[in-house]
Amino acid sequence: VHEILIPGRERVLIGRGLLDATALLGERDRLPGSVAVFTQPGAAPAARSLVRSLRREGAAAELRVLPDGEAAKDLAVAADCYRWLGDLGVGRDGLIVGVGGGSITDVAGFVASTWLRGVEVIHVPTTVLAAVDAAVGGKTGVDLDGKNLVGTFHSPSLVLIDVDIVEAAPPELRREGFAEALKCGLIADGELLRLLETEREAADLEEVVRRAVSVKAAVVTDDFREAGTRQILNYGHTIGHAVEAPGGFRHGPAVAIGMAAAGRVSALVCGFPDEVRQREAIEGLGLPTTAPGVDRAEVHRLIERDKKRRGAEVRMVLLEALGMPRVSTVDRATVDAALTAIGIA
Ligand SMILES: NC(=O)c1ccc[n+]([C@@H]2O[C@H](COP(=O)([O-])OP(=O)(O)OC[C@H]3O[C@@H](n4cnc5c(N)ncnc54)[C@H](O)[C@@H]3O)[C@@H](O)[C@H]2O)c1
Ligand SMILES: [Zn+2]
Repeated sequence: VHEILIPGRERVLIGRGLLDATALLGERDRLPGSVAVFTQPGAAPAARSLVRSLRREGAAAELRVLPDGEAAKDLAVAADCYRWLGDLGVGRDGLIVGVGGGSITDVAGFVASTWLRGVEVIHVPTTVLAAVDAAVGGKTGVDLDGKNLVGTFHSPSLVLIDVDIVEAAPPELRREGFAEALKCGLIADGELLRLLETEREAADLEEVVRRAVSVKAAVVTDDFREAGTRQILNYGHTIGHAVEAPGGFRHGPAVAIGMAAAGRVSALVCGFPDEVRQREAIEGLGLPTTAPGVDRAEVHRLIERDKKRRGAEVRMVLLEALGMPRVSTVDRATVDAALTAIGIA
């Protein structure tokens, strides 16, 4: 079992065949008052077996299956969760556990951070994306008109990543998480980049997860509330988010396209020499680098909306070189050149 620490915040455990009550409860001297486990359809078998294991250890554990996917990240769903916690009598000494993809860890974290002004939460990510990104770093959220508009910072006490469970997820989900893992390789870990370039989708999942989580943990340690350096985790996300909805992409492919665009901006603004190598790495993972058919004006509109929320110019994470990210303001002409590079007419 491999352990990664975010000092003063969370402990991440990565291994195989890991998920049971013992790993979850750790070395505490008494059981939590009650354990409320939230999950989603795709992760329900893993969550059920965890609940059985908790009960065998004498814990009062209950399970609730929330709507699948992004539909779980809704204030009405959160309100149902609060009522359920009330019915179960989950008090300040209770424990909330989120077993599932990023939708579940986001809503479980949000509910845990607000129920009775905050109770302990443990995340058990079951998708690659949740393992390398959503479950780590303490950001929670639900959607309101816009994605993640309502949320909190609330670190889990533990993130338990059972690679056997994550590995069982379908290939599209794996690819999606690999887009974020590749991002980590590009901004901070040359070994991870090489691993994904040479082994592609067959790369050892445990090592990919370990390396990507280490990158995220290191960045989050320096800047928990995203005032500065944490922004580098948004590499590929400015233009990525802007093509996501109009192109009907899932998040991973959208980030892949966004990284291709950011690669071009990086080449133009700060002489990034590895745009081609980066594009080949993305394509090697079966991820897209173009978004043909997406409307240029619509992409600009979405980038502008994002800019207004941040109250600044269009700022993007760029690469001066592999492993050397920096944040820069970018003008419209440069964004236009990048949109051309990703096939947006
Ligand atoms: N808080 C953060 O810092 C952060 C970072 C990145 C992403 N996110 C959020 O994460 C969410 C996306 O996460 P996701 O891609 O994991 O999506 P998800 O939670 O919607 O899961 C995707 C699908 O996979 C299924 N599933 C889950 N585990 C499975 C398994 N082991 N086997 C088979 N199917 C399984 C689910 O039932 C669901 O249908 C978004 O809402 C995003 O905003 C949050
Ligand atoms: Zn992302």
